[in-house]
This record gives sequence, C-alpha cells and structure tokens, in this order.
Amino acid sequence: MADEITVFQAVGGEQFFFDLVDRFYDGVESDPILAPMYPADDMSGARERLTLFLIQFWGGPSTYNESRGHPRLRMRHFPFRVTREARDAWLSHMTDALDSMEAPQAAMEMMVDYFVQSAEFMRNVEEDETPPPEAL
Ligand code: HEM
Repeated sequence: MADEITVFQAVGGEQFFFDLVDRFYDGVESDPILAPMYPADDMSGARERLTLFLIQFWGGPSTYNESRGHPRLRMRHFPFRVTREARDAWLSHMTDALDSMEAPQAAMEMMVDYFVQSAEFMRNVEEDETPPPEAL
C-alpha cells in the first residue's frame, strides 16, 4: 500500500463502507447467534454506528467520534457474550461481505488482518469459564 494514501482513499471513499456494512448486516440479521444480540428496533442505528466507525478508522471523516465519543469498543461489547462462536460468526459475515466488494488487494489484506485481530480483541468469554449466575 502506498504510504501517501489511506485505505479510505484506496477504496474510493465512504460509499465502500456503506455497502460493506449493508452486506455484513444482511448476514448478521439471519444469523442465529448474532441476530438476537442486536436491537431489533434499531438495526439502522447499528448499521450507521459501524459504518461511521470504519470510515473514521480507515482515514475518513471523524463523524463517529463527533456523535459517539471515543469508541471504547471493547467496553461497548461487554454487555454481549462474545464467545469464540460469536467471534467466528461475526468474522465470517464480515469476510463474506469483503469478498463481495471490489478494492485494491493491499487494502483488502489490511482490512482482513484488522478484522481478524479486532474480532478476537472483542471476545470476552473464556470458553471453559464458569457461566455467569444468570446463565445457571
Ligand atoms: C466479535 C464479535 C462481535 C460481536 C458479537 C459484536 C456485536 C455487537 C453488538 C451486539 C453491538 C451493538 C449494536 C449497536 O450498535 O446498537 C455492537 C456494536 C458495535 N460494534 Fe461490534 N461486535 C463484534 C465485533 C466487532 C468488531 C470486530 C468491530 C470493529 C472492527 C465492532 C464494531 C462495533 C461498533 C463500532 C459498534 C457501535 C459502538 C457504539 O458506538 O455504540 N464490533 N457490536
């Protein structure tokens, strides 16, 4: 990837992220593990939050921070049980969505690497740990 341009520029700007997240959420909405975690009455809000975050993260405008503040993503995922299974489901919808998009190879590779790492970072359940009391 040339040093002088961002991934945001390499993929042609914000439309790429709107399309990517649309495709990603089409998968999430029919996923038996993930769908129940999302606010059924605010899926468009969830789509917008992820889209704006990714636009900002990859070098576009910082609208996400202006409306949501610092991302603190790991903390914002604490209310959800992000198991290995949930992580893998999330990642598989995201890689399917990426595979359906056109972008320069180097930008694609950076995004895949980032999603693999950040999905693991969001995991907050050790599979062999004792379930929390409410699950007993
Ligand atoms: C690993 C599995 C993951 C699961 C199960 C998961 C699930 C969720 C859920 C249920 C929400 C709340 C939806 C909402 O915004 O109302 C959410 C929010 C969000 N997630 Fe994830 N997520 C995962 C990984 C990731 C990753 C890897 C990223 C970033 C690369 C990410 C970025 C976000 C963002 C930006 C929000 C909105 C935060 C906010 O401003 O409130 N998530 N996620």
